[in-house]
Amino acid sequence: MRRRVRVMAPATVSNLNCGFDVLGLAINEPYDVVEVELTGTPSVEIVAIKGCDSLSTDPEKNVVGAVLGAMTAASGSAVGFRVIIEKGIIPGSGIGSSAASSAAAAFAANVLLDARFTLTELVRFAMEGEKLASGTAHADNVAPSLMGGITLIRSYEPLDIIQLNVPRELFCVVLHPEMEIRTSIARGLLDRMLPLETAVRQWGNVGGLVAGLYREDYDLIGRSLVDYVAEPKRSGLIPWFNELKNSAMQNGALGAGISGSGPSVFALCRGVTVAGKVLGGMKEVMKSSGVAFKVYLSPVSSNGARVL
Ligand code: HSE
Repeated sequence: MRRRVRVMAPATVSNLNCGFDVLGLAINEPYDVVEVELTGTPSVEIVAIKGCDSLSTDPEKNVVGAVLGAMTAASGSAVGFRVIIEKGIIPGSGIGSSAASSAAAAFAANVLLDARFTLTELVRFAMEGEKLASGTAHADNVAPSLMGGITLIRSYEPLDIIQLNVPRELFCVVLHPEMEIRTSIARGLLDRMLPLETAVRQWGNVGGLVAGLYREDYDLIGRSLVDYVAEPKRSGLIPWFNELKNSAMQNGALGAGISGSGPSVFALCRGVTVAGKVLGGMKEVMKSSGVAFKVYLSPVSSNGARVL
């Protein structure tokens, strides 16, 4: 039995505009790394967190503690874990920081437990991290971080995750303005009830996006990348949102919007050349704002969490 393993799990862009809490995709960079060692006592110890000062090593307050605590309880034997977390993804950035740590921890522990759990069960464990981080056990970041590609949470009860087709020329651009938005606060802005007309428009786009991905119909993908539910409530949290989105669209993006709960803004593009142009335009917008930012350009990553 292996005693120690290092696992990476990638950043993710969730919602994809129309699919609040159900759609997400993995990108190649940035990513988190979690190193897990198996111990014989049913407890979780977080020894160190590298690359971030703001997260707690108290397992009760850290998403990795929540995930591994649930796995310790479910494993039914006297196992525990000692952990080192290497943060590559800035917390509160909107590209699945808590999800990547949760996914990497769940995947690593499962390697040490001789693959006792299925991938879907690992998503369920990783959702415990999301529950601690945001108050809701949503799976639209942890699923693509664990599985790679583009995922649809068709159902939460029972958990039914569908991996969708990834069109060959699809590229994702992400711009992260260096400010933090807490997912719990961004979720609090949303209406609990939707007018039927809004729901009709939203699920029409979800269906259109899924069909577009399978037909590799980039125009249909673009037409479907519209959000009537979260973006109208949340975009005001991101001071440069409209400028960034307009710039992306003017430079040829298929669609653009808030990545997860923000503040990152993403754009989907056909081909790396357009993606580069979109990225350049978004950078120009931010340069004039004087606020620090990070950018990422990536194909949809076919890899989810994996052993390093
Ligand atoms: N679907 C979640 C939300 C993603 O929008 O609140 C958070 O990263």
